[in-house]
Amino acid sequence: MRSLVVAAALLLLTACSSTKKAGSPPAGSSGINAGHYTSTKHINASNGAVVSAHPLASMAGLEMLKKGGNAVDAAIATQWALAVVYPGAGNIGGGGFMVARLANKEKIAIDYREMAPSGAHRDMYLDANGNAVAAKSLNGHLSSGVPGTVAGLFAAQRYAKLPMRVLIQPAIDFAEHGFVITAAEARGLNANREDFQQFSTRPTAFVKQAQWREGDTLIQKELAATLRRIQENGQPGFYEGETARLIVEEMKRGSGIISLDDLKTYQAKLRQPLGFTYRGYQIIGMPMPSSGGLLLNQMLKMIEPYNIGAMGFATPAAVQLMTEAERRAYADRARYMGDADFVKVPVKELTSEAYLKNRMQDYDPQKAGNSKQTAEGIVPGYESEETTHLSVLDKEGNAVAVTTTLNNSYGSRTVVGGAGFLLNDEMDDFSAKPGSPNLFGAVGGKANAIAPGKRMLSSMAPTLVLKNNAPFLVVGTPGGTTIPTSVFQTIVNIIDFNMSTDDAVNKPKFHHQWLPDRIDIESGFPEQTSRALEKMGYKLYNRKQIGRTEVIKVQPGGKMEAVADHRGDDSAAGF
Ligand code: GLY
Repeated sequence: MRSLVVAAALLLLTACSSTKKAGSPPAGSSGINAGHYTSTKHINASNGAVVSAHPLASMAGLEMLKKGGNAVDAAIATQWALAVVYPGAGNIGGGGFMVARLANKEKIAIDYREMAPSGAHRDMYLDANGNAVAAKSLNGHLSSGVPGTVAGLFAAQRYAKLPMRVLIQPAIDFAEHGFVITAAEARGLNANREDFQQFSTRPTAFVKQAQWREGDTLIQKELAATLRRIQENGQPGFYEGETARLIVEEMKRGSGIISLDDLKTYQAKLRQPLGFTYRGYQIIGMPMPSSGGLLLNQMLKMIEPYNIGAMGFATPAAVQLMTEAERRAYADRARYMGDADFVKVPVKELTSEAYLKNRMQDYDPQKAGNSKQTAEGIVPGYESEETTHLSVLDKEGNAVAVTTTLNNSYGSRTVVGGAGFLLNDEMDDFSAKPGSPNLFGAVGGKANAIAPGKRMLSSMAPTLVLKNNAPFLVVGTPGGTTIPTSVFQTIVNIIDFNMSTDDAVNKPKFHHQWLPDRIDIESGFPEQTSRALEKMGYKLYNRKQIGRTEVIKVQPGGKMEAVADHRGDDSAAGF
């Protein structure tokens, strides 16, 4: 057993965004002090590292590594904890994806995306005139798909070492005894106060009489009881019995359509991860029903023939090349991508060398492309912001990338009465009507139309990069449709621009998604590059923030470098 002094010496803390302190909630049996914690942006570690959107969640993962668990144990515990300490996106009422590569070289993709309830139908969000009504697919009970997270965590458990009752304990402690909230959490809860009241039918822990302030303690007794039911009864503790009854009663009070049978029959699915190479590195990504892996494959392969490293980071030439690859990949997303259990997605064709070469044939390095002219590619015979990411790596070489979401910030803002957790508004990720944009402005077609039991197309892109057949990067981010482009840029920043991991994570990002035909640029994006792009004919759109990327990189010699995005409360932990 390493002494604390040795463990501390192994940690190189290079940045610290904030320390939370308040009337300390009592530590539960997990022993993490939820009343006093620090957000750590960069660590070096030898035995294992966890990066997530919240310091307490990263600490919960770290605790499992120290107890002898592997990266999967840590990822599961981190997710349970996020469901409590990061209610805007961490969840048990939403869904997600896990991509892992185990020390024995087995590659895993777990799909626990939400599913359209059996009562859903293609036109359920259209008004009498046939127009999509975003308020219906984004707010309240009807916007929720059948949650997948709990099933996903139990599906992941077969690769873990520790019992679920241990992995879930920190989350129960944080819910039962409370935790001190950050300024960002206070802002989020206050901003959604009226929505919680409007879209929930019972009082919730998220609304109190006064405004929330940094340092307040959030206690979630009902959520603690729900987590204990899962601890005692396993997966049926959520999908059957008391919790299922509470979900269905909530649905009935708010005209939602999730039924007892929808819950009982929900299954997480093991998928074949999507794999490809980029400049000799092996990339492992999430397949359908997420577009994340396929978009990343298309974009990286479209730029591979060009020496982008020589162009330089954030130069007009590099940004333009990447933008044009993004435009073309997202046009294909709109046309071809959806739940492959329901529609044929021509993955092989969309990623073939000939197809991608042809896609870039009209790329002109002097001039902006045009989304009216750049429709989706032709595949012969084809018929037819708030999310959160965590990265974990352990010393045995188990690498786990998880992205999970409620869709919007705090999802549907419907809290299940008596059960204390938020439901997702993931139904908005379906294409409610061909050509009508969703929350992220993305358009879709028949491939992503609503059908009972179908999973809505996602952009989440939990990704692993291997070098010489060993883990090199664990990477992912929230950000709706900006997820694949942020992961794309992070990988190019590290592989092609040879940037430090901190810069690769924190430097301003940009995004193009075919429609709307514009480049979104994050605050701090170089002014000179913006002007040059405008001269080429691009329209630019300013965004305060794009993504919150969590990266673990293996350095020469084998040490792990874990970097948490500076854009939020994100925090790295390791030893
Ligand atoms: N709800 C965001 C996504 O799955 O892409």
